[in-house]
Amino acid sequence: MSVRRSLVIGTVGLAAVLAAQTTALATPSATSAGTQAAAAARPPGVIVEGSLRALGSFTGLRIGTAVNTDLLGADPAYTEIVNREFNTVTPENVMKWEVVEPTRGSYDFSGADELVKSAQQNGQLVRGHTLVWHSQLPSWLASNGGMTTTFTDQQVKDIVKKHIQDEAGRYKGRIWAWDVVNEAFNDDGTPRQSIFYKAWGNSTDYIADAFRWADQADPSAQLFYNDYNIEYTGPKSQAVYDLVKKLKAQGVPIDGVGFQTHLSTQYGFPDLQQTMQRFADLGLNVAETEVDVRTAVKPGATAGTFTSEPLSNLHASTQQAYWDQSLKACLFVQRCVSYTVWGVADSNSWIPGVFPGEGAALLFNDSYQAKREYTVVQQDLALAAGMARHRTGEGSGGR
Ligand code: G3I
Repeated sequence: MSVRRSLVIGTVGLAAVLAAQTTALATPSATSAGTQAAAAARPPGVIVEGSLRALGSFTGLRIGTAVNTDLLGADPAYTEIVNREFNTVTPENVMKWEVVEPTRGSYDFSGADELVKSAQQNGQLVRGHTLVWHSQLPSWLASNGGMTTTFTDQQVKDIVKKHIQDEAGRYKGRIWAWDVVNEAFNDDGTPRQSIFYKAWGNSTDYIADAFRWADQADPSAQLFYNDYNIEYTGPKSQAVYDLVKKLKAQGVPIDGVGFQTHLSTQYGFPDLQQTMQRFADLGLNVAETEVDVRTAVKPGATAGTFTSEPLSNLHASTQQAYWDQSLKACLFVQRCVSYTVWGVADSNSWIPGVFPGEGAALLFNDSYQAKREYTVVQQDLALAAGMARHRTGEGSGGR
């Protein structure tokens, strides 16, 4: 049986799943020696009973993680968790424009190639991230945070088209879903004034063109619009809703909307399920694409440093509740095709670098031990395993 086929297990009874998982649902041992031995004993692509990817497969829900290719292969404990727990992978950085084309016309796809190859070996699908984004653009193309360029409008259009053709074309047939356009709106719902917006005559028409070019380059990939702070009712969510509704009406090849879902316990939990359902009702797939739940953490021994320990038990239990609710929101929306966490261990998360004093945002601690948050996610998936299998998401065929 192939790895892909072994994931298609079909509907099973809840009691049977829970009985089968009784021992496997124990928190996995993640000691470095333990994980190395486990990985060595298990050929790539063999699914571990009770892992998140195995439990998700009972309902057809893909469970993913962002991958740091500096750690993949180099850090055994990290690599073991990526391949044991997840069946989709998203490159955290190596498919971004500044990485793949640091100098105009000179490409570096080494990290992206490595990730795609590893995914194939481990029975994982790839979420390509991301083709058109104002951030992490190469310095030859843009400055001022993606707001300024020295190129003419027509040159920018030609450059964007070529970039999409080159990158999406290189991985044609090997990408499950592309984040074609990322973060095109401000929090107040106005369009971001990026070099793309300006080049298309101060309009969001670049978004339709990007989707058309991505579809031409890789017709089998699902094409997503991806953004943050659209998880709750508000002007930004509404702006994205209006955009994708218009794209659908115009026949633009869009398959889905990614809700990044970077959550913080200092804010109330969003009306995520209702919001995703509203988008799904437009005939789009939805996904949670970058889930993490940050909270205030205890200070470290030296002034200005911080640990990955939540400040109190209340902070920790709120985080656990947010993981539970974010996963359930996806489980209860039939068109929610994947649930992706933005990294493996707290120590590899982007959060402490951007929000000093906050952290503990992921499922594994700094020592790659599964946290209580992991168990919450694992148990939700096990409990959901009795639901009718109803997710598709195997390419753009259902568009
Ligand atoms: O690669 C350089 C390295 O050469 C240099 O020495 C080092 C010095 O700072 O920087 C390295 O680049 C860093 C890069 O990650 C790779 O590690 C950048 O500084 C750093 O800003 C960059 O951060 C990434 C961030 O996107 C950039 O906006 C995070 O890892 C990544 O997790 C984060 O991911 C984004 C999603 O793509 C989109 N949604 C939001 C999410 C969180 O910001």
